[in-house]
Amino acid sequence: MEFSRFFILSITLLLLSSSAFAKTVSPPAPTPTPTPAPAPAPDYVNLTQLLTVAGPFHTFLSYLESTKVLDTFQNQANNTEEGITIFVPKDSSFSALKKPSLSKLTADQLKQVILFHALPHFYALADFKNFSQSTSTPTFAGGDYTLNFTDDSGTVHINSGWARTKVTSAVHATDPVAIYEVDKVLLPEAIFGTDIPPTPAPAPAPVVAPAADSPSERSADSKASSPSSSKLDGSSASKIINYGGNLVLATLAVVVLVL
Ligand SMILES: *[C@@H]1O[C@H](CO)[C@@H](O)[C@H](O)[C@H]1NC(C)=O
Ligand SMILES: *[C@@H]1O[C@H](CO)[C@@H](O)[C@H](O)[C@H]1NC(C)=O
Ligand SMILES: *[C@@H]1O[C@H](CO)[C@@H](O)[C@H](O)[C@H]1NC(C)=O
Ligand SMILES: *[C@@H]1O[C@H](CO)[C@@H](O)[C@H](O)[C@H]1NC(C)=O
Repeated sequence: MEFSRFFILSITLLLLSSSAFAKTVSPPAPTPTPTPAPAPAPDYVNLTQLLTVAGPFHTFLSYLESTKVLDTFQNQANNTEEGITIFVPKDSSFSALKKPSLSKLTADQLKQVILFHALPHFYALADFKNFSQSTSTPTFAGGDYTLNFTDDSGTVHINSGWARTKVTSAVHATDPVAIYEVDKVLLPEAIFGTDIPPTPAPAPAPVVAPAADSPSERSADSKASSPSSSKLDGSSASKIINYGGNLVLATLAVVVLVL
């Protein structure tokens, strides 16, 4: 009797102490070393970068650079509360321009045409619902260089007087910078007048791609490098998970060894 009571007691003590020991060995809940928080995103929106990776908008970007309008737009994006809304035609829209060739314009006219593609205010796409067909909205080109907007169940239509087009996608729309892709080059009535047939007959596909309106031929290679900063976050997150997993495994191994 004495012996069996002693035996049970010692077994109990042993179990208790070993479980207590195990408890002291097991480390506190794995605290993954905090990865340094990414620096707060600066407000600076690099227009060149945005237009380089999207599109292809190489033709428009080349005109922005050659006319120095890029500085005007970037300054508006950098330094104003108002912000900016830019309508950007794709390279194919420039090559589709047959009749009114931009290459025939004077340097001043060309600059006006490029300035005509932006409004000195940030507009989300939904804001265009408030515009009415009979409201002329001033552009960066000033004066008579105005655009009329209408919203047709979510699609924003733009009337430059000479050309009608629409917004086909939003490249960037975070206050203070909005960049929308448009179907056509916006040709201002102030330069091109209204005497051109509104519905030009579709021209037969040319054998040689007309490059007359492209200030420079650039490869579209840069498009391949897509702008996903979120990828970085993803990989660092999975690193933490791996690290945490290893820690748990190591802890288990220690506990098993001790027991
Ligand atoms: C903006 O982006 C372009 C193209 O990526 C780059 O060459 C330029 O240095 C950038 N500008 C600034 C101020 O970061
Ligand atoms: C816009 O801001 C960037 C970053 O601060 C700067 O490098 C660039 O020169 C500025 N550009 C203009 C036109 O203000
Ligand atoms: C458009 O109208 C709505 C109400 O109809 C209003 O809340 C919104 O602020 C307006 N947006 C602009 C840009 O005026
Ligand atoms: C744009 O709006 C103005 C009124 O501000 C109007 O006179 C003009 O006809 C409109 N243009 C078009 C193409 O609808």
